[in-house]
This record gives sequence, structure tokens and C-alpha cells, in this order.
Amino acid sequence: MKLSVIAGARPNFMKIAPIMWEIARRPGVTAQLVHTGQHYDEKMSKLFFEQLQIPKPNIDLEVGSGSHAVQTAEVMKRFEPVVLEQKPDAVIVVGDVNSTIACAMTAVKLGVPVAHVEAGLRSFDRTMPEEINRLLTDAISDWLFVSEPSGIENLKKEGTDPKRVFFVGNVMIDTLVACRDRFSAAGGLDAFGVRPNEYVVLTLHRPANVDDPAVFGGLIRAIEAVQRDLPIVFPVHPRTRKIMAAQSTHLPNVKLVEPLGYLEFMNLVSNARFVMTDSGGIQEETTFLGVPCLTLRNNTERPSTVDQGTNVLVGLDPDRIIAAAQTAVRADRSAHRVPELWDGRASERIIDVLTR
Ligand code: UD1
Repeated sequence: MKLSVIAGARPNFMKIAPIMWEIARRPGVTAQLVHTGQHYDEKMSKLFFEQLQIPKPNIDLEVGSGSHAVQTAEVMKRFEPVVLEQKPDAVIVVGDVNSTIACAMTAVKLGVPVAHVEAGLRSFDRTMPEEINRLLTDAISDWLFVSEPSGIENLKKEGTDPKRVFFVGNVMIDTLVACRDRFSAAGGLDAFGVRPNEYVVLTLHRPANVDDPAVFGGLIRAIEAVQRDLPIVFPVHPRTRKIMAAQSTHLPNVKLVEPLGYLEFMNLVSNARFVMTDSGGIQEETTFLGVPCLTLRNNTERPSTVDQGTNVLVGLDPDRIIAAAQTAVRADRSAHRVPELWDGRASERIIDVLTR
């Protein structure tokens, strides 16, 4: 069996890593790794390949940044000849970025079946570009690999044939389980001058949060208040850095740092008092680790992190965020459950299904 595995943007890399490790263990299964180049900075891409021991991509489409239409179209244009030449038996796409839908659509139209890993997640917010990517990718994929029960329900309500749906667990947690022993050696806390359990980790990059100055200004006001009580370590996404450069802020207790590698970041998260984020994946990682997470959004496509995990949706209102941060400082770390099948073996189940 010859597979083509797609990696495009940072949150894809920790999802494809365990799939590539699993394929390497299986006799008779081979994979071409295609990097679309959606993320290209060393700290947004190459560092993850090194730390997660992902083989060097066989092909780099080097699409780079662009508007949604330009980026998606460019991936499709450059991926089509690759599929025609490689003739894979199936294409594996993960997550919900532009590269995910672009490669899925290209493959399906050439008659190559597609497996979508992390299928069925829905925020029910169609203003989010990722929600459109999720809906479209699920509609055209042949295998839908689901990470939490809400995914099964959502796909059922959309009329999806249950024979296409497989509840396999969470590949990102596979990576976490496999790398966990290496987190503490990655360091980082001393470099940022913080002590375990006495700081907050912050990430912000959603267009809806950072691109609108009124929303972003409100978030900065909340961050100003939180940092008076606890230092904040804030690895800044390139999109957010551009916006911050244009804002005047007074954040003396916030350490603004470059995007971090997987191991350093996970070490910081594991030791944090709590995390504030608008990322999707970090909601799941904090749930697994039992670290309180305040999600700076009005919705989540990952409800099991709220129902069972440590996640609280705090929205974008500064006063609500400040109040939630005061509660999180006192949160009980033991009061959480790890969702079903988040056990480090999702990739194994995926390759089992595909080889069957
Ligand atoms: C993309 C994904 C989002 C994911 C996020 C994680 C889509 C629609 N969005 O958003 O789901 O949560 O990645 O990071 O696919 N840039 C660099 N260096 C890079 C990459 C980007 O400087 O290596 C800058 C560019 O100026 C670019 C901007 O960041 O215009 C945004 O990058 P882009 O890939 O378009 O979207 P993200 O916001 O990263």
C-alpha cells in the first residue's frame, strides 16, 4: 500500500508524526510525505520535523503565504502533478488548515481516496476558515477518523454513511504520550525566568482575535490585568507579531518570545499554573495533562475538553477573562478526565483500518 501523507502548517506536524512512525513499522506500507509549504519559517516548520523525528518530506510544494483563495489554489495546482506521478493508493490529510482541504479536493477529483484524520469536529461558526475546511474535507473524504464522540454525532447529523466513520482517538495525544519523557530535558523555564506552577502560558493567533483592533485591544487589556498577578510567557505567532507591533501595550510581566519548538512548548505548558489560548490543539493537550485552560473564544469544536477536561470557554470579554483567570489560579488540577481513546494508539488504529 502506497500512501501520500500531507503536512502543511504547524498544527499538522504533531499530527502526522505518529502516523509516519506507524507506517515505518508496517511491512508492505510505504508513504510519500508531502509538505505544502503553508508554514515555512524554521521555527514554524523545520524545528518540528527535527524534534519529532519526522522524515524529511519527499516533496515540498513551497506555496508560502497568501489569501485563502490564492493559498488553497496554489496547493491544488502544485499537488495535482504529484498525485498523477506518484499514483498513491490513498491520501491522508489531517486537521483543518487550507492545505487539508486543498489536497483532499485535488486527490478526490483524480479518483484517489482520501482519509481525513480529526474528522467530525464542528465549532458551528462558519466565520472561522477552519470550520469551512472541516465541513468540506469531511464531505469528500472516504475514511473519517474521529478523535472524540462529538465527531461521530456531528457526522451522523450531516447524514454521513456510518461505514465511513471510525472512532480512533487523538493522534496529537499519540505524539504527546511518545514524547512526554523528553519535555523536561527541553528546558525553557529558566531561560524565561519562571518557576514551575508560578506562571501562565499565552498563545493567540486566530484572525478573529488578532486582526480586529477592537477585539485585540480588549484581549490586551485582560492580559495586562492577569500579568499583574503572575508572569506570562507568550510565544508570539508571526501573524500576531505584526499586529502587536502596531499596538501600544504596557506588559512588563509578559515575556514575548519567538515561536517555540514542540518539546520546549510542551514543557512550558506542562508546568504552567494555567494556559490562555485561542488554539484548538492546546485545548486538547492541556486536557490530557490536567493543566487548566482558558480558551479565548466563544465556541470550541472540541467539546470533550470542556465536558471532561480542564477547558473553560471564557469568550472575549475582558472582565470575564480576568475573573476566569482569578478562578484558574485556584483550580484543582486533579478534577479532570482524559477522553476515551486518547491513549497513544490512534495512529495504530488508523493504519489498521486503512490496511484492512
Ligand atoms: C494557519 C491555519 C490555522 C492554524 C494556524 C496555526 C488556515 C486557514 N489557518 O493559520 O488553522 O491554527 O495556521 O499556526 O490554514 N507566516 C510567517 N511564517 C510562516 C507562516 C506564516 O511569517 O512560516 C505569517 C505570514 O505573514 C502569513 C501569516 O503568518 O500571512 C498567517 O499564516 P497562514 O498560514 O496564512 O495562517 P495562520 O494564521 O498561520
